[in-house]
Amino acid sequence: MPEQRTKPSPPPATVCPAAEGKEKHPSCGKLDRRTFCAALGWGGVAGLLGGTLYVSGRFLSPAVLYEPPAFFRAGRLEQYPPGTVSERWKEGERVWIVHTDAGLYSLVATCTHLGCTPNWSPAEKVFKCPCHGSVFTLEGDVVAGPAPEPLYRTPIRLTPEGELIVGTGRLGIRLASQANREPKRSAPGYVIST
Ligand code: FES
Repeated sequence: MPEQRTKPSPPPATVCPAAEGKEKHPSCGKLDRRTFCAALGWGGVAGLLGGTLYVSGRFLSPAVLYEPPAFFRAGRLEQYPPGTVSERWKEGERVWIVHTDAGLYSLVATCTHLGCTPNWSPAEKVFKCPCHGSVFTLEGDVVAGPAPEPLYRTPIRLTPEGELIVGTGRLGIRLASQANREPKRSAPGYVIST
């Protein structure tokens, strides 16, 4: 009797033990080819979608340059008695707040020659630049040295609550060269009558 040949049956599917501690088949935990290709495809789609959303968001968002505030709160008017030059904001905001018979105004603490920082001389009541000797009056006018222009002024105003709002020297540095221009010296927004 001829030997009956039987068709070899496929190997049984590997069952990966779920419980910990059991020995795993070497193929457990590995991706088969189909799963790998599917994961690759979905990953590509997700990446493409994310990239498109990012580029669209950048395109639609406004191109705004965020700057520090152009004004700062300088306290109350009473903190600046008549006949004084306040150096309180010289380092941080680069302005002096001056209170004279002409009113209250702020001068930018930057020499108009080459940008050094002048010093306030209370004895002489002038601002003196240590670099090349320019001298400025209380109003900011040049009385000596090579400075080509008076000290700049920044906008200043008083709120209804009595708080002083002053333009910053950093941004307002070129806003107003007014000291030698009499009609502008008392321009609204640059001096507070007291
Ligand atoms: S920078 Fe002030 S005098 Fe030159």
